[in-house]
Amino acid sequence: MNVVPDRSSIRAFVDLASRAPSVHNTQPWRWVFDGGTLALHADVGRALPVVDPNGRQVVISCGAALHHLTTVARAFRWNSTVAVSRSTRAGDPLARVAFTPGARPQSPDFALLEAVTRRRSDRRSFGAVPHNSTVTDVIGEIARSFGVVVTALPADTHEALAAASHHSAAVRRYDWTYQAELRWWAGHSFVGNGIPAESRWIESEMPDTTTGRVFPPGRATVSSDAGPSGPDRALVVVIGTAADNRYEWVQSGRALSAVVLEMTALGLATCPLTHLTEETASRAVVDRLSGSDALSQILIRIGTAPAGSGAGPTPRRPVSEVLTGA
Ligand SMILES: Cc1cc2nc3c(=O)[nH]c(=O)nc-3n(C[C@H](O)[C@H](O)[C@H](O)COP(=O)(O)O)c2cc1C
Repeated sequence: MNVVPDRSSIRAFVDLASRAPSVHNTQPWRWVFDGGTLALHADVGRALPVVDPNGRQVVISCGAALHHLTTVARAFRWNSTVAVSRSTRAGDPLARVAFTPGARPQSPDFALLEAVTRRRSDRRSFGAVPHNSTVTDVIGEIARSFGVVVTALPADTHEALAAASHHSAAVRRYDWTYQAELRWWAGHSFVGNGIPAESRWIESEMPDTTTGRVFPPGRATVSSDAGPSGPDRALVVVIGTAADNRYEWVQSGRALSAVVLEMTALGLATCPLTHLTEETASRAVVDRLSGSDALSQILIRIGTAPAGSGAGPTPRRPVSEVLTGA
């Protein structure tokens, strides 16, 4: 008989996996435990039809939760075998996870577990990455593991990137469908969802992260420690794939999660960015700047966080809303 984690362990894994980043903190995942394996589904009811009409960012978010889950399981001594589906049928799971006991977690595994709870999307300006070669090695290994392309954009491309970012903001400033969707997720005081006001700046203190998405004003200030601090010297990396399909999006999400957790474990701050990949024109700029044949899926700012604790944790849905069967 197969030995599997008990139901309370599955609940704990899913609870911690929910700390994964997701587009607008929509947490668009659904887990189904059948007593043996755990299936991951996209929750299409939480889709963003304006910014994400084909569900790419929903699936990337699910991929990030999948990597969080296997990272957590390993720290709890369970090995995971992940089967990412190549099915294109709506309703089919994105992936299935089978567990076998006997993992022997080491201190890097516990550092990643700790990173799961400590990581935040930090929208302040960053200082430069101090140990570039370690970061490059880690990122190279992640790209190999998930079969994606991860490119660090050279500093001399940042001006062009900032221009593309401004362009994407300008064309959507008066796009009321975009603004309404953004304000639904980042303009309410929801319980358990969305980007809270404490994670968004008051209007007079918008940061110098010229590559960041423009969110509706919130309550974060310099004095509340989540505010900006000087020019942004972040390293920007791009995750790209050979094709645009659900399988590649899941792999991009797993790679995204691996990058942000590994960087957090190294003491660095991170913030995923996708506004640049939502518009055809700005996505083409990112494709060109990254200098590979890959299609850009998501960008990540990485750097040294300024002094102060930054924004607190964003809310999450309870396990009972995202898990059935355990
Ligand atoms: C697919 C995806 C797209 C995202 N796009 C952006 C973005 O364009 N700008 C941004 O500041 N954060 C972006 N984020 C970060 C989310 O807003 C963040 O993960 C969510 O609000 C939860 O907060 P946390 O990461 O601090 O836990 C994105 C995250 C994911 C997974």
